[in-house]
Amino acid sequence: MHPHQASQTAVKVGRMVALLARQPRLAPLLPKGAAETMERLMIHTGLLKPWMLRFFAAPWYGRLMTSIERHTVPGQVLSIGLRKRFMDDETRAALAKGMRQVLVVGAGLDTLCWRLASEYPEVTLIELDHPATQAVKREALEGLGPLPPNLHLVGVDLTRTPLEEALSRLAVWRRDVPSVVIAEAVLMYLEEIHVSAFLEALHRCTGPGSRLLCTCFRWSVHGQAAVGKGVQRMIETALRLAGEPLLWAVREGELGPFLARHGFRQDASTERVDLHRRYLVPAGLPEVPVSVLEFPVVADRG
Ligand SMILES: C[S@@+](CC[C@H](N)C(=O)[O-])C[C@H]1O[C@@H](n2cnc3c(N)ncnc32)[C@H](O)[C@@H]1O
Repeated sequence: MHPHQASQTAVKVGRMVALLARQPRLAPLLPKGAAETMERLMIHTGLLKPWMLRFFAAPWYGRLMTSIERHTVPGQVLSIGLRKRFMDDETRAALAKGMRQVLVVGAGLDTLCWRLASEYPEVTLIELDHPATQAVKREALEGLGPLPPNLHLVGVDLTRTPLEEALSRLAVWRRDVPSVVIAEAVLMYLEEIHVSAFLEALHRCTGPGSRLLCTCFRWSVHGQAAVGKGVQRMIETALRLAGEPLLWAVREGELGPFLARHGFRQDASTERVDLHRRYLVPAGLPEVPVSVLEFPVVADRG
């Protein structure tokens, strides 16, 4: 990551959510309020401009993106919206079950915690992100009003400061409480050794019954390459140029055992983690594709 610049991938996520919000068929799939709040935040930072929103609303722009996706990764933009919906639904379900802490690692410009703060004043919400990204977000949030008292922003570079150290500096974090931990589109930017350290720290810093919600990256599904070699090279190059190279891709059959070695039990049931089946089929959109490169993961702490 660039040491003094907001994460470019986080900015791209925000812009793609704004684009989805302008696609009449797909917008209802986004979590309620997610696009509106993200737009307010991003307009305030200057990372989203009114002219961009005009482009996103133009029918030709949507068609252009779909055509680009058809030749690269079909469903890539929608997958971002669906993974946000997944995190939102799963977090709310965990809160309904009594979890009282939410930690979002690499939160970027996501607004889940900001939205939950007033709905769940009794829940401690913590966002942890690279200092460069978080500085931009903090300035924007504070510019839009006082930070909710139960929302805490912590700037930390996870490759330099271990998660456990970052959490131990936070007086409000309680290790014995069942917590929801979200790492959406983050772990693929860490070396496997840092992912391992992250999971080990998470196990030590959360109470039994805590839940990890994350997304992971893969290049192949059912023994087949998910994209052609050229597209793979293009994705790798684009991320390297953005200063956020892809460092960890999951190999088939290895994630469950990897999580288990760190004390987390993965629930890979398709009705829960297959975004197409969970969201598109019930919405009457079975023909709409979802990218298979990034996929959501639920794992409970043993
Ligand atoms: C693709 S963005 C995802 C943002 C957000 N989770 C979302 O999905 O909207 C990746 C995030 O990981 C964060 N990140 C990358 N490397 C990091 C590091 N070494 N330490 C802390 N955060 C990091 C970036 O700042 C950025 O917010």
